[in-house]
Amino acid sequence: MSQAVQIIRQEHRNLFRVVTMLDAMLRDGREAPDLPFVRAVLDYIETFTDRFHHPKEDLHLFATLRRRDPLADAMLEELEAEHAGCPGALSRLKDTVGACERGEAGAADLLRERVAQYLRFQIRHMQKEEGVILPMAEKSLTPADWAAIDAAFADNRDPLFGAEARADMRRLYSRLVNEAPAPYGVGG
Ligand SMILES: [Fe+2]
Ligand SMILES: [Fe+2]
Repeated sequence: MSQAVQIIRQEHRNLFRVVTMLDAMLRDGREAPDLPFVRAVLDYIETFTDRFHHPKEDLHLFATLRRRDPLADAMLEELEAEHAGCPGALSRLKDTVGACERGEAGAADLLRERVAQYLRFQIRHMQKEEGVILPMAEKSLTPADWAAIDAAFADNRDPLFGAEARADMRRLYSRLVNEAPAPYGVGG
């Protein structure tokens, strides 16, 4: 397995863990959620997907696979459209946090519903990448293609799980683990 494939799978697990814990923490719902904390987690998810993970997939893996296997095109279009829709989904989530901050009726339920929806969306998206796109790439890309893609993916500046992890991001993650109920975290 190429290094890039291992990194993609690992990044998917990292994102899955963060969104699952946020979802579990909100569903636990015994206390009102700490909204600045929810916002910080959403900011991290935005940085991770829009600045690290999706651009690497679009510019390197998807672009190379499109050249090598025309049959991948329909699925790649679908995945690229989903990447393009991500900033909008996150800004709707943040708007809902804003509605909670203003104490609007029903906003907390809407936030829970939207986070659950976002989690389902991310799971489906990553399943398509791991179940369809990675196997197609492993069949049709050349060793030289993989060497170029590996180099791009090795640039891992994710502020939470990357080589240059930041202390504030680490604290954010430990708090998420502490607040999310078992079995997702150790809270509750
Ligand atoms: Fe993706
Ligand atoms: Fe991905």
